[in-house]
Order: sequence, then structure tokens, then C-alpha cells
Amino acid sequence: MTEDNRKLPVHVSIIMDGNGRWAEERGQERVYGHAAGVESVRACTEAAVETGVRYLSLFAFSEENWNRPEHEVHTLMELMVKAMRDELPTMMKNGVRFVVLGNRDRLSASLNAMIDDCMEETSANDRLTLIIFLSYSGKWDIMQAAKKMALELAEHPEMRESVMSMDTDSFGRYLVTDGIPDPDLIIRTSGECRLSNYMLWQAAYSEFIFTDVLWPDFRKDGFRAALAEYSKRDRRYGKVK
Ligand code: FPP
Repeated sequence: MTEDNRKLPVHVSIIMDGNGRWAEERGQERVYGHAAGVESVRACTEAAVETGVRYLSLFAFSEENWNRPEHEVHTLMELMVKAMRDELPTMMKNGVRFVVLGNRDRLSASLNAMIDDCMEETSANDRLTLIIFLSYSGKWDIMQAAKKMALELAEHPEMRESVMSMDTDSFGRYLVTDGIPDPDLIIRTSGECRLSNYMLWQAAYSEFIFTDVLWPDFRKDGFRAALAEYSKRDRRYGKVK
């Protein structure tokens, strides 16, 4: 492994923000910004494949986003469907495994069926895992993990010992991100400097990059610049070097 590879994040995650402002700056409806944002999704996915990043996750729709106007929610879901349909051949060509994580009970049956098909079709690809967080929030994730564990314990009281001796790694296996390494780098666009209920557990030791660039303007050069900035960070995980 070269010095450069050692400094490459395994998992990059992006809070894609600023689509609405990007559209408003152009005198357009907010959904115009979301459509332009799909191009940035494509560009960053390509950049991740090109640079050798193994996991790219994108916060596409939070549990809180369900409270947006119905027209906007509907358009976002339509964009997801269209992107999956359009991008499947490219994902197959580039070795991209597609994964959706979040509260899928809230998604329509047709969207869930499409997600299942796309996940199944790409499941053997191993160059990049592209994770779309959809109807996701960090607190929801921790809650569903705790509920799953409580139910298991109620059904199997003999598990009490192992639950009591559980460590953070074993609890992590109940989260929807089971099997996915924690994000090394979280990028948020549009100048907002907060986590907004995203991967609260998994972000414990992530590096953060906040950029003023609005998501539809965040393309390959921005992605590569973020990787370069990450490579200069000194990660100590609470220890002394
Ligand atoms: C935040 O901008 C962006 C979103 C809530 C949606 C992101 C979704 C996409 C880019 C489209 C489809 C995604 C995929 C994975 C194909 P905002 O609306 O909060 O912007 P604002 O803060 O300027 O109002």
C-alpha cells in the first residue's frame, strides 16, 4: 500500500445540501435544484470509482424531509426512480453495488420493489458500494436497533448474559449499517455546519469537511479536493500519538 492509499478514506459520506437555494438563485422552483443535484450524484459516484474509494454514501432523504410539501416529496421520489432506472447499466459497467438504507416501511410498494431489484441485480459488484440513505435518521436507526434487540431478548431470555456483556461493535450489528465501515469522511455542502440527525452513532470518529459550494455545483473537482484535504488530517481516535 502506498502512502497515498493509506490516506484515502474507505468510506466517504455526503450530506447533499443546497439544491433549493441553487434553484432559487436561478429563479426556478426548488425541484429544479434536485434534478440538477442528480448530476452531482453521478459525478461523485464516478469520482469515487476513479479514486478507489470503496464506499460512498449519500443522505438523500431524511425522516424529517417527509414534512416537506407533497409536490417536492413526490418529485424527489420520482427522481430516485428515474436515476435507478437510468444508471443501472452504468453501475453494472463500473462494478457499483447499490444499497438503500432507511425506514423503508414509509416508501411506496413500487419504489421498494424497484430498490429490491436494483440491489439484487448489483449485489455481486465489488468495486464501489453506493449507499443511498432514504427516509433515514440517526435517532431512528438507534431506536430500531434497540427495539430489535429488545424483541430478540423477549423471545430468547437466555440471551440476557450476552446482551449485558455487549460492546459497541456488537450493538452496531443491529444498526442498518451492519457490515458497512463507519464513514471516515463526511462532507456537507452549502455552508451548513451540522449533522442534522445523520449517522449519529457511526460518525463518532468521522472527519468533517464543510464547504460553501451548493450541491448541484459539487462535482468531481470538489470531491477530489475533499479527498486531498482529508489526506492531511491527523486521526487520533482519542489517543495520544
Ligand atoms: C438538500 O437540499 C437535498 C435534498 C433534501 C435531496 C437530495 C436529493 C437529490 C440530489 C436527488 C436524488 C438523489 C439520488 C440519490 C438520485 P435542500 O432542498 O435542503 O436545499 P436548501 O437547503 O437550499 O433548501
